[in-house]
Amino acid sequence: MSFFVKTNISECGGFEKFLSEWRIGESDLILTNEYVLTPQLDGKPSPCDVLYQEKYGGGEPSDEMVDAVLEAIESKKKQNGKDYERVVAIGGGTVIDVAKLSVFGEGLRCQEIFEKGATLPRKRRLLVIPTTCGTGSEVTNISIVAFKKKQTKMGLAIPALFPDEAVLIGDMLRTLPYEVFATSSVDALIHAMESHVSPKADVFTRTLGEAATRRILKGYIDLADASGSKAKTLPRELQTFLTASTMAGIAFGNAGVGAVHALSYPLGAIYHVPHGKANALVFKAVFEAYQRLGADLSPLEEILSDILNCPRPAVWEKFFELVNRILAPQPISELGVDENKCAEMAQSVIQGQQRLLNNNPIPLSQEEIETIYRNCL
Ligand SMILES: NC(=O)c1ccc[n+]([C@@H]2O[C@H](COP(=O)([O-])OP(=O)(O)OC[C@H]3O[C@@H](n4cnc5c(N)ncnc54)[C@H](O)[C@@H]3O)[C@@H](O)[C@H]2O)c1
Ligand SMILES: [Fe+2]
Repeated sequence: MSFFVKTNISECGGFEKFLSEWRIGESDLILTNEYVLTPQLDGKPSPCDVLYQEKYGGGEPSDEMVDAVLEAIESKKKQNGKDYERVVAIGGGTVIDVAKLSVFGEGLRCQEIFEKGATLPRKRRLLVIPTTCGTGSEVTNISIVAFKKKQTKMGLAIPALFPDEAVLIGDMLRTLPYEVFATSSVDALIHAMESHVSPKADVFTRTLGEAATRRILKGYIDLADASGSKAKTLPRELQTFLTASTMAGIAFGNAGVGAVHALSYPLGAIYHVPHGKANALVFKAVFEAYQRLGADLSPLEEILSDILNCPRPAVWEKFFELVNRILAPQPISELGVDENKCAEMAQSVIQGQQRLLNNNPIPLSQEEIETIYRNCL
């Protein structure tokens, strides 16, 4: 067993306080979104240079977006005649995963970083303020990028990608659109649950995974109770979701995530579905396959039975009923997926996602993966 948390984690009462306590100044560069930073600055100027990620590409990180941001950092550096000591990523998984690839300094591009990452020296420190409640990227050593030509997402996991500091500020989430709250919190829930059933799970990852699962589901139950048949407003307890997603990040950073993530990557890359939603599309079918194939999910089922206040045989039905109230389910046929595409995607998962498939509680063959996709049509 080996359990590791590299990133220093702090809670901070607000953004202004963060700027002064962390002495953000001229040797720093903020990478963020304009609509995330502007409400926080409240009319005041930024104390350091800022790059807005949305100017370099839409949606989630692609190799093209990463290259455009790296080029922009280099040209800003040339203009100013100085390098940046710290990069401050303020955003969701997209901003954070792009910022992680900027720690190596000049002259490198995404493909090269993915190929040589483990041998590259690190040149900058990385501070992260997550503004969604999902990825846990603020505490993981992973960056996930869609490679356009390969039509799938790939994850790079190397020690240099651990942020130095994660600063949790619940107020940063108040501008989140409901849909992003829903997709990102479902992503965190899946991190907690996939890491719980992973063969690499240990008492530390399971404890954090359980705590995250309890917080998120309790939050969902309150939200569903308060908002009738379909929840559409942000919960008041955003800090609870934020803490839960960081806990889930530590759990999966150590024990890994498995088939839900592996099967969601082609959907995200080909059909441009946000990461949390792509996961949600295959979540139920993957866990049904685990049950069908006899995986031992009993420790997780005990926890769900307690949270959902129902006997163990009823947990999965009750669990997905609740998740569906937060994020409406959708058949993947509505994205344009057909039976041929299911076969193609199953092949690409087997070829490209062994890093994740190794974390399944039970092995899945290519035929079984294809069946899972078909069950989602
Ligand atoms: N590195 C990891 O450990 C890890 C883990 C899971 C997922 N990911 C990656 O993270 C990405 C998804 O990240 P995400 O779910 O956080 O979504 P995201 O970062 O793509 O954000 C979704 C949208 O919400 C906006 N947004 C974010 N915070 C906001 C705020 N506070 N107010 C207003 N708008 C806001 C963003 O600008 C974007 O348009 C995917 O690329 C996924 O592959 C990485
Ligand atoms: Fe995820």
